[in-house]
Amino acid sequence: MANKGNFYITTPIYYPSDKLHIGHSYCTVATDAMARYKRLRGYDVLFLTGTDEHGQKIEDKAKDAGVSPQEFVDRIVEGERGVLDLWKLMNISNDRFIRTTDDYHVAAIQKIFKAMYDKGDIYKGKYSGKYCKPCESFWTESQLVDGKCPDCGREVQDAEEEAYFFKLSKYADRILDLLENTDFLEPKSRVNEMVNNFIKPGLEDLCVSRTSFTWGVPVDFDPGHVVYVWIDALFNYMTALGFQNDKYNDLEKFWPCDVHFVGKEIVRFHSIIWPAMLMSLELPLPKKVYGHGWLNFNGEKMSKSRGNVVDPYILAERFGVDALRFFLLRTFPFGSDGNFTNELLISTINTDLANDLGNLVSRTTAMCQKYFGGTLAEGGESAELDGELKALATEVITNYEKQMDAYQFHNALSEAFRLISRANKYIDETAPWVLAKSEETKPRLLSVMKNLCEAIRISAVLVSPVMPESAEKIFNLLGVPAEGRAWDSLTYCACADCTWNTQTGAPIFPRIDMEKELAALEELSKPQEPAKPAIETEALAEETVDFETFCKSDFRAVKVKECQNVKKSDKLLQFTLDDGTGVDRQILSGIAKFYKPEELIGKTLVAIVNLPPRKMMGRESCGMLISAVHKEDGVEKLNLLMVSDDIPAGAKLC
Ligand code: MSP
Repeated sequence: MANKGNFYITTPIYYPSDKLHIGHSYCTVATDAMARYKRLRGYDVLFLTGTDEHGQKIEDKAKDAGVSPQEFVDRIVEGERGVLDLWKLMNISNDRFIRTTDDYHVAAIQKIFKAMYDKGDIYKGKYSGKYCKPCESFWTESQLVDGKCPDCGREVQDAEEEAYFFKLSKYADRILDLLENTDFLEPKSRVNEMVNNFIKPGLEDLCVSRTSFTWGVPVDFDPGHVVYVWIDALFNYMTALGFQNDKYNDLEKFWPCDVHFVGKEIVRFHSIIWPAMLMSLELPLPKKVYGHGWLNFNGEKMSKSRGNVVDPYILAERFGVDALRFFLLRTFPFGSDGNFTNELLISTINTDLANDLGNLVSRTTAMCQKYFGGTLAEGGESAELDGELKALATEVITNYEKQMDAYQFHNALSEAFRLISRANKYIDETAPWVLAKSEETKPRLLSVMKNLCEAIRISAVLVSPVMPESAEKIFNLLGVPAEGRAWDSLTYCACADCTWNTQTGAPIFPRIDMEKELAALEELSKPQEPAKPAIETEALAEETVDFETFCKSDFRAVKVKECQNVKKSDKLLQFTLDDGTGVDRQILSGIAKFYKPEELIGKTLVAIVNLPPRKMMGRESCGMLISAVHKEDGVEKLNLLMVSDDIPAGAKLC
């Protein structure tokens, strides 16, 4: 197939402060489907995604979790069920993955910041205003909505700091022209939002550095400042191609970007701030920003803080990745918000996939097997109805292409399903089971089966960007060779020369029992009680000891002066203790597997000091340290009895 040119497409890079939910998967699945569609069309595609890892929120969350920010993001990005795992599960075919903590990106951002500074578009000033921590955004009083963050509706804080500013105001006219007079931003409704809410009230210069935290790209010529996370993040689209670094060398081939898919709340950054910075550096602008809608849950944006997130792992495991991908793109118009419900998900799978597509494939392959042993040889007898199916298929292909090129996935899929429904109706109209009754109508039956196989093949090519695995299963059942799976093969043909070798298999999309499944999902969404560890303590002693004997035991507070491991023993620690007598006391204790020597130095412990001395590993032990012991889930636990350091060495315990 002839190379149609290059196509560069991106998703927003995800903020790894929490695990991703189905809302995050929405944009990445859409981008993946578009990348696959463009590859199918013959474009040389670069599909970029990644993670946006700096900023105060990450720094705070890492602190709460007791780990470094790098460890924190590493866990969410690379850890089990993290970002990379999720994209693998969702069958995301990105060509590149950028992390803004990657060295090459950090160094490039420093150069970019300096270049805008040298040009005079970044200058030093003082910032005082309102700051929304979760969004990492500064706002002026007039931008707040009811005194709250206009993006997320949360409380903002007063903030003042010395900071660098970007001369956004300088580019206001050019941005207005870009938005109003070109197709840079789509859908068009987003243009009105940007112009009315942000540009008409007056574009103010943008605060682009922070001094109140350190987890960011340092401004190398002014220590103490870190680059505003959005500058760091937006330039990922270019550093990942090799801008201001030697890691990659694809700028010439892929920049300007063909389309950035972004959620509606970050359209402002992509359609105002991003082009203004590119203008400052005199770089070509991306060809398009497409602002998609939100996946809502009960009318509210899905988000961790609202507690309404839906776990893509659970959904993909229960319904299959392709069914989930299909649901996301078939149900909700890409530019608008959509309300996610489990009922809608299940009914879409049952109606479109199990009933329509799945049934068409099962019925057709079963009939090919039954009537022709799976081999449709040359020959057949066509009828007028076949022409109608062919005409519809041809129309569907044209419409599908138009809709996909306009990023209207739901309409494109609905076109493919027009053909699928028509083919199901064609079965009822031609009634192959009647044709099979007589040898005379066998040629007609052969043509009918060929038409069905061809309609399914075409439908499978059309749904393949959205459901790649299912399309492959269908191609395999129909015995379609590689060239019949390609875009160039999309010319309907079911003539006498065509032959097919089909097979039967398990249903591709099993029907789901709505009631049972909803109950199961409900059960799964209940907060799980963390399993309590099984604690075992030793049974109380049955034998009594008389009071006088007990009183003979001499328990004392002792201070640890030195503590070390005993050579050749993995159990023993050797303690040098101050017991208040002025003479050091040595005790050996079999607790090396519970404590490191250095963590005990200086602690005040309790020892019984009037036991007869005994030798352990050739060393004398004069007494015994007192500990509490128990088992948790069968694992032995030990805690030395420690008392307040205010208690002097030698104090008697009674
Ligand atoms: N890090 C920034 C993007 C920087 S791009 C240079 C960011 N990250 S995010 O993780 O918060 O969001 C990533 C994307 O997920 C955004 O486009 C956002 O709109 C999208 N979504 C998050 N929740 C969503 C829904 N509930 N529905 C649809 N998209 C959602 O923003």
